[in-house]
Amino acid sequence: MGKITYIEHDNTEHEVELVVGSTLMDTAVNNAVPGIDGDCGGACACGTCHLIVSDEWLGRLGEPGSDELQLLDMTPERCKTSRLGCQVEVTEAMDGLTVRLPEFQM
Ligand code: FES
Repeated sequence: MGKITYIEHDNTEHEVELVVGSTLMDTAVNNAVPGIDGDCGGACACGTCHLIVSDEWLGRLGEPGSDELQLLDMTPERCKTSRLGCQVEVTEAMDGLTVRLPEFQM
């Protein structure tokens, strides 16, 4: 049990239940968090699950794969702590994680 907080571009916060084994994209979509789409269903093919983590959390979410990095390269609002939510599997250690959502998805 734990919580993950998604913060929309307008600073609206959505605190949701952490589900181990889910992904950050599925967790958001299953809780109707606005601002993250997940159009390809998690196949790392659309880039509509872009989210931004803090420096503090970045190294604790695992390394992005080459497919993810290629898609992130095409993401307009990419920053150095950007990840694709479908490529980050939720673990118990993510209790308290806060992620920010960009203004627009691709
Ligand atoms: Fe399509 Fe993540 S849901 S790339």
